[in-house]
Amino acid sequence: MDYIRLHPETIAEVKDKIDLVEIISDYVVLQKKGNELSGLCPFHEEKSPSFSVNPVKQLYYCFGCGAGGGAVKFLMDINKQSFKEVVLDLAQRYHIPIKSLAPEQQKEIQRQITIREQLYEILAVASGFFQHSLQQPQGRRALDYLQQERKLDDATIQQFKLGYAPDNWDTLYNYLVEVKHYSISLVAKAGLIKERKNGGGYIDYFKHRLMIPICDKDGRIIAFGARSLDGSEPKYLNSPDTELFSKSHTLFLLDQAKQAIAKNDKVIIVEGYFDAIALHSQNIKNVVAVLGTALTSHHVKILSRYTDSKEIIVNFDADKAGIKATERAIKEVENLIYTGQLKLKVVNIPNGKDADEFLNASDDSVEKYQRLIDSAPLWLDWQIDQILKDKNLSNSGDFELVFQGMTKLIRKISNEVTKNHYLLSCAEILTKGRSPLNSLNSQELTKIYHNLENNSKSYQTKAKLPRKSLKSTVNSQVEEAEFLLLLIYLHCPSWRETIVNYLDEKDLLFSLDHYRFLWQQINYFSQNIDIDYHDNKLLTTLQENMVNHPEFITFWQPLFNPSENNKQRLFAPESNINFALACLEGVNLEKYKQYCQQQITIYTNNQDMEKMSYFFEEIKKIEQQLKDLKQSII
Ligand code: UTP
Ligand code: MN
Repeated sequence: MDYIRLHPETIAEVKDKIDLVEIISDYVVLQKKGNELSGLCPFHEEKSPSFSVNPVKQLYYCFGCGAGGGAVKFLMDINKQSFKEVVLDLAQRYHIPIKSLAPEQQKEIQRQITIREQLYEILAVASGFFQHSLQQPQGRRALDYLQQERKLDDATIQQFKLGYAPDNWDTLYNYLVEVKHYSISLVAKAGLIKERKNGGGYIDYFKHRLMIPICDKDGRIIAFGARSLDGSEPKYLNSPDTELFSKSHTLFLLDQAKQAIAKNDKVIIVEGYFDAIALHSQNIKNVVAVLGTALTSHHVKILSRYTDSKEIIVNFDADKAGIKATERAIKEVENLIYTGQLKLKVVNIPNGKDADEFLNASDDSVEKYQRLIDSAPLWLDWQIDQILKDKNLSNSGDFELVFQGMTKLIRKISNEVTKNHYLLSCAEILTKGRSPLNSLNSQELTKIYHNLENNSKSYQTKAKLPRKSLKSTVNSQVEEAEFLLLLIYLHCPSWRETIVNYLDEKDLLFSLDHYRFLWQQINYFSQNIDIDYHDNKLLTTLQENMVNHPEFITFWQPLFNPSENNKQRLFAPESNINFALACLEGVNLEKYKQYCQQQITIYTNNQDMEKMSYFFEEIKKIEQQLKDLKQSII
């Protein structure tokens, strides 16, 4: 439609209707961060998110590469499309009537839109036909199968609109074309009939199969999955890709699952139609299925939109193929999970069963399944288990394999806290395997710990991925936290006492020169000049005094005259104080942890096992405290 000259009204309406967040979520996993959302920039490679989206202003900006703009610009850049192409796509997606400047073009546009609407209609009519056939004598075999072998009741059969495609090559064709008078070309476009191989007319696409409608996220039927009933191959036949349906972009039952996904704040992905149906019918509704394709990062992005925690649980079959598919899925979203954008967990059902078989196996299987989900390991733990499977660590060949496998995993982790956690637990697994008689041999533990770590470091230098220095991240966190505390102290007098008490209680000090000096000034004026504790004369006095310290003006000015953004933060003093204090505490703990790690190295060289164990224990405690801290501010 390149020749179309779009009417300005259409452009305006598109710009007005579209939602930047919804559009960007197709391409980026977005997490809430205050009033904005952030994620990994799709325009350049990065390991920590610098891409931010402002939903109020409907603008995005990447602090890493400078990309920025509104929704149309985003789509133009990411899909390499022209302005016109983007506007036309959006108009269709949001059902905005497209007006052209040239009246003769108007007709053609209308025709293209109605085609899609008619396809939806034909698919809905076909589904009604299949449902009806299931209840006829010819559908007996299929209905028996559903009721007896699949143990589904009538309500469930209706809820999922299950049906039957009769055992002829032209029943649906006759119904849709002869009775309902839909054009042959449209019925073919809907993927319901196909041309005979040797020419000479059309035949039904599905014959003697159990029909499972596949819907888009809004619940409109866009395709069918069809299971054979007599062992004929393929076991499942899907509609071909059509204008409405793309197999690798669709998730089965998303329309019925999306609310439950949001409510549970997590989503379970299974492999089969009937796994999803069985779980839904047992009231576990935050479940979708892939459609005989691998799980793609596109699937994951669709799903992550519905959860804040970004928790995705993959429950593929526990057979060899299922494990391979799980590994492929992990690889597909590697960039997102190792940078903490996504929390991927893995459930394998014992004895190689799929969810459907498992649910039908015993009376309390639903509770059991729920427990499996609740205790699902993170992908890294699952992968470590896979590495250990069938290995004997006292065999040196196996030991080497496991060691290499673990290093390969660990070196991908960019978050220091997580990395340390896995270094420790892998080191422990390896030492236990090596010296079964003395599982707490901390000397060996330390050695392995350092080996693992060195190995992962050397990889990073080789790959030219300099780690962001701990120092610089720590500094920016401290900067932010100390700024926040002072901001609230200065502008919310009623919180001053609380802040002072907290700082005392937790034994925290301002560590950056420019803020420490301001804190001293505050104390000085509060004590030596007659300023009421609850009076904002403090602020004016400090401001007047600022001229005496020109070197600090740039740091203090934003505190004295806060920006709009920072003013917003004054409305939630308590949570901001808690956040800032947790940051400062976290930084202190990190520093202490570094100290402990240095001590371990020293005592390893001196072979002082007692001291080493002591610092090992300390590190474990610190890690727990860090974890608690993190919890407390989430
Ligand atoms: P499975 O072969 O694991 O079957 O396919 P299942 O789910 O256990 O099937 P039942 O229980 O015997 O009915 C899992 C999924 O892979 C896709 C389908 O989406 C199926 O649900 N698949 C499988 C196909 O697309 N084509 C096939 O021929 C087989
Ligand atoms: Mn099955």
